[in-house]
Amino acid sequence: MSTYRVAVLAGDGIGPEVMHEALRVLSAVEQKYGFNTQRVEKPVGGAGIDASGKALPADTLAECEAADAILFGSVGGPKWENLPPDERPERGALLPLRAHFGLYANLRPGVCLPELTAASPLKDSLIEGGFDILCVRELTGGMYFGQPKFYGEREGELIGLDTMIYHRHEVERIGHLAFRAAQGRSHRLCSVDKANVLSASVLWRDVMTELSAQYPDVQLSHMYVDNAAMQLVRNPGQFDVIVTENTFGDILTDEMAMICGSLGMLPSASLCTRGNKTFGLYEPSGGSAPDIAGQGIANPIAQILSMGMMLRHSFGQVQAADAVDKAVRAAISVGFRTRDLATGSPGERVVDTAAMGDAVLDALEQQFNLVNYQHN
Ligand code: IPM
Ligand code: MG
Repeated sequence: MSTYRVAVLAGDGIGPEVMHEALRVLSAVEQKYGFNTQRVEKPVGGAGIDASGKALPADTLAECEAADAILFGSVGGPKWENLPPDERPERGALLPLRAHFGLYANLRPGVCLPELTAASPLKDSLIEGGFDILCVRELTGGMYFGQPKFYGEREGELIGLDTMIYHRHEVERIGHLAFRAAQGRSHRLCSVDKANVLSASVLWRDVMTELSAQYPDVQLSHMYVDNAAMQLVRNPGQFDVIVTENTFGDILTDEMAMICGSLGMLPSASLCTRGNKTFGLYEPSGGSAPDIAGQGIANPIAQILSMGMMLRHSFGQVQAADAVDKAVRAAISVGFRTRDLATGSPGERVVDTAAMGDAVLDALEQQFNLVNYQHN
């Protein structure tokens, strides 16, 4: 039986609460699909600062090294907001993890289920039937990591300097991944850049265009990022797979999250290749939500779906991952809603974190029973 080692970094705020539900769902699919996980919990973010003075304690990083995947909750909160920016939970934990492991590919699905369109701020007429977008964000290049970086005085004036730089190999590897993702979906890929102004974007566009010759079954289009920001709220259904550089991806995926209705629904995966395996950090797109932490009302679905992405991408447990996705959809379709999803429509059953976890577990159980029934 396969055993996978998982570094469980629940972090701060709602992180531990939603992680608890994801781990319950993981236990259920493990049993049914015949694999094991060995889970090692470590502090990160504010919890790391409290435990050992650093958002990413050495011991936590060592466990991530030893693991097959990292299941991450969320980090940050008012308690640590006055620390210098580099030491704060968000920057002090996530960016070093991305850099350390070279997690260059960030997959952010933006799915608005047909049942949840009312939770989206967009008008019904724009999103009838929901939509399903996958943003592939480059995660270790561009302005976030480009050198030089500088903040200080130059020639008698205070300046701030960042460098947007891309190398061909960085665009190629994220490009290949995005084209392959498009092959697994509707064979349409929209590359987002700012090639009318930025050299890094001219390179981006040239390389994407060049790669498209190797993927004749994928229809590649290009869009400027300002237009993409507008098109996302004008007609999100036009997009299938989007590929874009780090900073643009950061901004567009927050916009995507908003139009989907709730941050509490969106998982993410940050991936790299390690040996012949896909290593990854799997985390909800939403933050630590300190305002509702500790009340047991947070939506655990993004964390559960992130766990599902881990099964799919790092463990190759595709059936188990499909079962998790399906169970989440089933729980929503029979009306279960955490508070963030509630719109007051008839048929909604507004529940807390644990009860949403139960609803997903029940839906899984029903699937298993159905499978057994079909096999008999
Ligand atoms: C994200 C976050 C991070 C980013 C921050 C916390 C560094 O906004 O994952 O989108 O900008 O990448
Ligand atoms: Mg962001």
